[in-house]
Formats: sequence, structure tokens, C-alpha cells
Amino acid sequence: MRIAMIGTGYVGLVSGACFADFGHQVTCVDKDSAKIEGLNAGVMPIWEPGLEALVRSNAERGRLSFTTDLPEAVKSAEAVFIAVGTPTRRGDGHADLTFVFDAVRELAMVIRPGTVVVTKSTVPVGTGDQIETILREEGITDISVASNPEFLREGAAIADFKHPDRIVVGAEDAHSQDVLREIYRPLFLNRAPILITGRRTAELTKYAANAFLAVKISFINEIADLCEAVDADVQDVARGIGLDNRIGAKFLHAGPGYGGSCFPKDTLALLKTADLAGVDQRIVRTTVEVNDRRKEQMVERVVGALGGDVAGKRIGVLGLAFKPNTDDMREAPSIPLVNGLVERGATLSAFDPVAREQAEKVFTGVEFANDAYAAAERSDALVIVTEWDEFRALDLERIAELLKGKVLVDLRNVYDPDEAESAGLTYYGVGRGRILHR
Ligand code: UDX
Repeated sequence: MRIAMIGTGYVGLVSGACFADFGHQVTCVDKDSAKIEGLNAGVMPIWEPGLEALVRSNAERGRLSFTTDLPEAVKSAEAVFIAVGTPTRRGDGHADLTFVFDAVRELAMVIRPGTVVVTKSTVPVGTGDQIETILREEGITDISVASNPEFLREGAAIADFKHPDRIVVGAEDAHSQDVLREIYRPLFLNRAPILITGRRTAELTKYAANAFLAVKISFINEIADLCEAVDADVQDVARGIGLDNRIGAKFLHAGPGYGGSCFPKDTLALLKTADLAGVDQRIVRTTVEVNDRRKEQMVERVVGALGGDVAGKRIGVLGLAFKPNTDDMREAPSIPLVNGLVERGATLSAFDPVAREQAEKVFTGVEFANDAYAAAERSDALVIVTEWDEFRALDLERIAELLKGKVLVDLRNVYDPDEAESAGLTYYGVGRGRILHR
């Protein structure tokens, strides 16, 4: 299939490269000429494991190319995917569709009859209908508009694309169903389930999936608070409930709250959709509140671990990205934490394996260390904020020696409390009993 992918952000670039790897002919388009020049020279605009090699090998085989010329990419395509950003609109929390509609108006000038336009960006219910209306206004009738939401996790995006739990296709006509089935045919060999449904249903499915995962995280975070009050261990509670297949073990890690480019934005957009429809979504609304509060509360946890005052203290921070294996700082729990500690007069020495460049744009007055041990050196406490693999097997005795105060605040429950305490550290996890909470 000949595919045009509009937008070379996270979703567009990963999806485009993976489609090319399936054997399709893919042209990725972006307005940002510096980004396109970089991609043509093999420079990735984002840090994602395996992406550079995938882009390189498919570009070398002539199946993947990058351009700023949207008309050129679209005019010969059988399917045009829209993967531009849909950020939260200022003021009202709804998804801003400016980039989507701009792309549709531009592609309307050149698109061939029979081409399928597919939204891959996360778009509110009814966006497919609006796209169809725009295309009709531009005089185009023989066009199918479909929805094919992505479920990629940053840091594992290529694996998620190639081994999806499911593929969701919202298509109102047989032609677009056929085209999408053909595009995803290589995955059916792996028996990936495909759900073909109505376009509005597919659009909502994406929001419902992310909102449900956000609910799971906020739920276990509240249970963690309860564990601390009643002297129970949230890790075991999560395992105890997660082994029940009806609940499932995933997304039950208590921590500093969820961040990233999807959950915060998509939960707000779902609430906005519900508002407009006149339907209350109390569970999701509360989840958003719980998460916002949780992120703010992390400062007090660290302050508490340091005896109630951090002014003049030095604090080492491990991990700044919103999760491991990415340099993405969007809505990262590290942001309110670091800023809150700096505001209270602490000196921070932070280390992240890849997010330093992005973090430098976000923080002022933070020192950046070159590794975990350097962050610990002369600090009064060390705080694990993001669970990068390289923080999972630190030499805790060495950390204890390097630290001035022997305090380890483990916001991701990476370490066994007993092991940390026997290395000479005072350990504070999340939801791990009254004793350890101190
Ligand atoms: C998410 C969805 O998983 C993906 O399907 C969707 O397409 C985009 O949004 P992503 O934002 O990349 O992906 O990261 P994810 O791994 O889902 O984590 C999101 C946030 O939740 C992170 O801040 C993470 O630390 C947090 N989280 C996740 C927890 O706090 N506990 C958990 O158990 C799982």
C-alpha cells in the first residue's frame, strides 16, 4: 500500500516506520523542515529504543521517506494517516484540533478519489464526522474517513505496534475496512485481534482505554496511602488483587502519579466530551483530581523524610522523564517535585540517563549530575522519581557512603526496604507500611 503519514511526532514516526517495515511504501510529512532534514540525515527527533535502526533500514530499502511537501506525499497515496498533535486547548481542557483540520484542508486539494483518510491522533468523538464535512465542503465526495487510534507506550512503542493487544478500526464503509485490513495484514499472521466498529465508537474507545488505565493507577495510589495508615504493603496488595484475572496485574504500581503526553490530556478531553454531551463522568473526574493532588504531595513526602525542612539541604534526584526509556518530560511528576523542593530552599542534583537536554528546558537552578552516584554524593537524601533500569541495581552501600544524610526516598518502590535498611539507609517507599513510612 502507498501510505502518507501526516505528522512525524511520536505516533506518526513510529507508525510510519513500522508500516514501512511491513513492506508498505510510506512517506512521512511534517511542516518542521529542520525535523525533516534531520530525519533524512538519520537524526531522530525523539529518543525511542529501536527507532533509529528501524528508520534507517527502511529508508535504505526505499520504503520510507520524509518530506515537507504534503501534496506530493498525498497525491499518490491509497491511505492518508493523520498523526498530528491534538494538545489540550488552553482554557477549556478540550483537544485542540487545529492541526488536524489544517491538514485535512491541505490534503483536500490533492487527494485522489477512493483514498482513505485515517485519524491516528487521539481525537474526540465526532472528529471523523467533522473531517467528512470539511472534505465535502471542499467538493470531495468519494472519500472514506476512518479512525484507527494508537495504543503505543513511549519507550516500548515499536514492540507495541508490532505486537498489539488489539487493533481498533472505526470505519463506516466496506472500502475503508478493506484498506485498513490490508495495511494491517502482516499483524493478522501474529493473530492480533482486530475490532472493526463504528467510527465514533473507535474514537471513544481510545479515550475510554486511557481513562480506565488512569483510574487503575489512581486507585492503587489511594490504596497505597491507606496501606501507610494501616501498616500494610501495597506491593503485596497489588499482587494479591492483580492475580485475579478479572482485575489483571498491570498498571497497579503505586508511585508519584501518572504523567506523560496521553493520560493527563486524554482524561481531560474525555471529561470535556462528557460535559458537552451533558453526561457526568464522576470516576474520571475524581481520578484527575486524585492524580493532580498526588503529584503535588510528593514534595511533602520528601520534606517529611528530611525532618520537615529542606532549606539549605542538598537532594539527589534519580530520573526526570515521566517514565523510563524516554526523554519526554511532559507532565512528568518530577516537575512539581523538583520545583517544590527548589522553592523550599533545597539544592538539587539530578540525574536522568537521557532526559537531561529536555529537563534543562524545564528547570532552572538545578544541577545535573553525570550518574546516580554523583547525584548521591554529599546529598542529604536521594529520591528515585523514575524507575530507569540502571537505578534498579545500584550499589546501596556505596550510595549510603556517598550520601551525607542516609535517606533514600523510593517513589517507585524499586528497592526492597530491608535490603536498603541493611545497607545503612533510612528507606521511605510508597505504601509500604507504617514503619517504613516513618
Ligand atoms: C499511554 C498508554 O499506555 C498508551 O496505550 C497510549 O497510547 C498512550 O498513553 P504512555 O503515556 O507512553 O502510554 O505511558 P504508560 O507506560 O502508559 O505510563 C503512563 C504514566 O502512568 C507514567 O507516568 C507511568 O509512570 C504511570 N504509571 C503506569 C504508574 O504510575 N503506575 C503504573 O502501574 C503504570
